[in-house]
Order: sequence, then C-alpha cells, then structure tokens
Amino acid sequence: MSNDPKVLTIAVLGGTGKEGSGLVLRWAESGYRVLIGSRDAARAAIKADELNTILGEDIVRGLDNVQAAAEADLVVVSVPYTAHKEIMESIKDVVQGKVVVDVAVPLNPPAVRTVYIPEGKSASLEAQAILGERVKLVAAFQNVSAVHLQEYKHGVNCDVLVCGDDADAKNEIFQLIEAIEGMRAIDAGPLANAVAVEALTPVLLYINKRYKVVGAGIRITGLE
Ligand SMILES: NC(=O)c1ccc[n+]([C@@H]2O[C@H](COP(=O)([O-])OP(=O)(O)OC[C@H]3O[C@@H](n4cnc5c(N)ncnc54)[C@H](OP(=O)(O)O)[C@@H]3O)[C@@H](O)[C@H]2O)c1
Repeated sequence: MSNDPKVLTIAVLGGTGKEGSGLVLRWAESGYRVLIGSRDAARAAIKADELNTILGEDIVRGLDNVQAAAEADLVVVSVPYTAHKEIMESIKDVVQGKVVVDVAVPLNPPAVRTVYIPEGKSASLEAQAILGERVKLVAAFQNVSAVHLQEYKHGVNCDVLVCGDDADAKNEIFQLIEAIEGMRAIDAGPLANAVAVEALTPVLLYINKRYKVVGAGIRITGLE
C-alpha cells in the first residue's frame, strides 16, 4: 500500500445504494480510486457510469462485491442490516489483514424510529465476530444521511463518530472523512462504543419525522 492516502483503492460494497453511492461520489471527487461492489457486476458498472458522468471523469469502476473487496486496499460495507451477515461471510476470506468500515445500522422495520439492539449488540461487533481479529473493523458514517452525501458540490455539515479498536485503522478513516468538505471526524472510542453510535440513527430518523426535516445529523460541541 502506498503512503499517499489518495493512492488507496476503496471498495464500497452496496455502492449502488443511497448511502454507498454518496460515499463513492465524495471520495472519487476527492481523488481516491473507488470501486463499487454489488451482488450484480452489471448493476455496479451502470452505477459507476452514472457517477463518472457526474464527475466528468472515469474514476469509478463497478465489480461484484467479492471482486471489489479483493481488489481494494480498504473496504466499506454499506448494505441494509438484513444483508449484513451474509455479505460479511462472503468477503471474509478476501479482507483478511485489511481495514473494513461498517456503515450498517440495525433497524427493525417497520419500527425504524425506535432503537433496535441486535443479538450481537451492534452490526459492527457482529461484523468483527464474523471476520475475525485479523480484520481491522471500524464503525463510521451511521449518522450521516445519504441525502446530504448525494448533494454533489455541497459540503456535508456534520460530525462523524468513529469507533474501532485499532488506532492506525481509525486514523486512515479520519483522513477519508475529512476529505469530504464540511465533515469532521471524531474519535468515539473502541468498537464496543458503536452500540451507541448505531443506536443514534433511529433517534435521528425520529427527529426527521418529528421536525419535518430530511437528513438530521450530529455535531459535538465543546471541542473547539
Ligand atoms: N440511507 C441513509 O441515509 C443511511 C444513513 C446512514 C447509514 N445508513 C446505513 O447504510 C446502509 C446502506 O443504506 P442504504 O440506504 O444505502 O441502503 P439501500 O440503498 O437500500 O441498499 C444499499 C445496497 O445494498 C445492496 N443490498 C440490498 N439488499 C441486499 C441483500 N438482501 N443482500 C445483499 N445486498 C443487498 C444493494 O446493492 P446491489 O443490489 O447492487 O447488490 C443496495 O443498492 C444501511 O445499513 C443503512 O442503515 C444509511
């Protein structure tokens, strides 16, 4: 892997979706090489073409999820919680030794505005248990609305809480967060703390409905 972070190749699995394609767009715009992963490589290629048209450059490529995870230096998983266990099992062999960023939020439809704690306490703790200790799992972006990521050329005004047990892996993700205009990375502690960060998202979804807004996010005060 190069020391220049922008030489990193990032795979976003579920990058055809709302949150994932927003992250792809932002990182590609910032100069990273980005791969979209999908269950269907053709669907990933179509989404990559769409984003390359927006970007005005051929930066993004589409592959199937396992190929994308195998080719990348760093893997971001952005799929619904219902697909989370299956996708983690499918990439386990190809992500050993890599940093994996989990964006998933456990939700229990239709009660998506009520906190749901899954059996393994959090999606990212479940991911770490599946992938094993050689994978450096980082939990991030759970509180960042896709609506804002998709607003190309507009900054994303929010903090991103980052949880993980490996300091170097967290530092890599801080750089990816701060490559997106307006975002600030906040070290929120070990992976165990992701229980609280993931649980904040149903609270934000409640706030969206209650106050008739889209994409409520968070800012931590008192750090300046
Ligand atoms: N949307 C937001 O604002 C937001 C904000 C913060 C966090 N999140 C979290 O980010 C994750 C992705 O959210 P999203 O809104 O982007 O979801 P989404 O658009 O509904 O789905 C993302 C992608 O996941 C893949 N997928 C869907 N069902 C699958 C299945 N059963 N098995 C395997 N892959 C499947 C699909 O890709 P292919 O069909 O191409 O395989 C889809 O494009 C979720 O865990 C969500 O809680 C979302």
